[in-house]
Amino acid sequence: MIITIDGPAGAGKSTISQEFAKAINYDVLDTGAMYRCVAYIKKESALSLNDALFQQKILDMNIVFQNHEIFLNGKNVTKEIRTPAIDIITSVEVSPHYFVRSEMCNLQRKMAQDKNMVVEGRDMGSNVFPDSPLKFYLTANSQVRAERRYNQLLEKNIHKDLKELEKEIEKRDYEDMNRVHNPLCIPEGAHIIDTSDLSLQEVLQKMLEIFQQIL
Ligand code: DC
Repeated sequence: MIITIDGPAGAGKSTISQEFAKAINYDVLDTGAMYRCVAYIKKESALSLNDALFQQKILDMNIVFQNHEIFLNGKNVTKEIRTPAIDIITSVEVSPHYFVRSEMCNLQRKMAQDKNMVVEGRDMGSNVFPDSPLKFYLTANSQVRAERRYNQLLEKNIHKDLKELEKEIEKRDYEDMNRVHNPLCIPEGAHIIDTSDLSLQEVLQKMLEIFQQIL
């Protein structure tokens, strides 16, 4: 069975997907990391997204998730795909691109085939797996999401202005929700969970209850 988890940046999707999948003994697919890998290829090759050579690289790319690490064509890119430069290339250039989106969609369906998998992203329940029997949409207000980001950066000794972070998050929301191809939206039939005032354990508890009900 495929369980989809969608929602805006900073809603806690990654951590919650990992914990939820572990609790129900499912595999997990982080589709944001796949778009980030495409951005990494773009940055390294300096090719245009419309270049046939670039598109061939996307068709040939091999992504392996192993023990919380990501290998792109055999290279561990776990850290390299989380830099601010890759954030921007992914959200502004790569994720709105039609060819990239349709190839990622094919690859995601292939990777999930015949598996019990929690798939996390922006268009999982609305576009890639519309027939999934269990869909979640996780959200939180932009202030809470900015505070979470602020604390994550502080742990890495990076100091950023909280208001600035909130503006960046709202800009990212706008881009995700207004792109032409497969924008972020609440999938039909999705269970909406606002995580603004909930702990990770409380969110997990809610999701596990819903999972038990549909079994
Ligand atoms: O979840 P994330 O921040 O790692 O996602 C990286 C980027 O990829 C972000 O700009 C949204 C985009 N994305 C997307 O367009 N569709 C998905 N299914 C997953 C992520």
